[in-house]
Amino acid sequence: LPDPDVAALTSADVDVLLPRPGKESDKYRRGVLGVAAGSSRFTGAAVLAVGGALRAGAGMVRYAGPAAPVAQVRSHWPEAVVTELDRPSVDDVGRVQAWVLGPGLGTGEWAHELAARVLASAVPVLIDADGLTLVARDRSLLRRSAPVLITPHAGELARLIRADRDAIEAGRLEHVRRAAGELGVTVLLKGSTTVVAEESRPVRVNATGTPWLATGGTGDVLSGIAGALLAQGLSCYDAASCAAYVHGAAGRLAADGAPLAAADVASAIPAAVRAICGEA
Ligand code: APR
Ligand code: MG
Repeated sequence: LPDPDVAALTSADVDVLLPRPGKESDKYRRGVLGVAAGSSRFTGAAVLAVGGALRAGAGMVRYAGPAAPVAQVRSHWPEAVVTELDRPSVDDVGRVQAWVLGPGLGTGEWAHELAARVLASAVPVLIDADGLTLVARDRSLLRRSAPVLITPHAGELARLIRADRDAIEAGRLEHVRRAAGELGVTVLLKGSTTVVAEESRPVRVNATGTPWLATGGTGDVLSGIAGALLAQGLSCYDAASCAAYVHGAAGRLAADGAPLAAADVASAIPAAVRAICGEA
């Protein structure tokens, strides 16, 4: 019997939800995304998250980070507006409508302080990767009134809700619901299928992906896509489910039965969106 509390997202659903620019659009109204990611050790995560966001239709991406990822983001994405941080603050970054926080950020004191500053803002925040490690250690970071979307894989969720990783893999629906309730946030749980949960909403299941996506950095691209959709005004629930669908479809197009690199997934986003928006 079909479970009424579970919904499979279709291409037609995503077609309805995906924002398109209108005649009156300008880059600010299309959604400005802030990205707080990357560190001297992990520069690529910043590049991939920014790339996912730009390809997913953000009007503008403002990247903030230390010198090493700043240089990488500048050379890969001249489109991004980049602020080099000499202290963990986002005061000089400019206005944004949403944040992506965490990919490659590191988990030290500097990262914790930057996370606290981003989460003190009044806009929706997507937390991924190292950001989730910081939150698992200090749950008080989640005390804010604006929306939060978290995008863990099973290992990251295990640390967040102090559950066993294998138990999560064996009961993904149950655990993703529990996490959404316990933490009071929207949860996108990654894996071979991706599930999205929010309190009193059906769990959305996405199966557009491909096992070729199991390669380093594809999660960072997903964060960029979902962040761009948040900045364009979608709710956490809709941004997460549309991002999962588009990311999986882009992965399939990029792979086409052969290996892909995470950057290829970002490159395939426009073709994936074209296919979705041309179908209905
Ligand atoms: N089938 C389909 N999709 C898959 C499969 C699979 N078998 N395996 C993985 N994926 C997808 C996931 O759903 C997700 O969208 O690939 C992506 C992997 O994302 P992450 O698990 O976040 O991996 P990664 O991009 O390497 O993360 C980079 O963040 O999570 C931390 O520790 C991680 O430092 C690493 C960084
Ligand atoms: Mg990841």
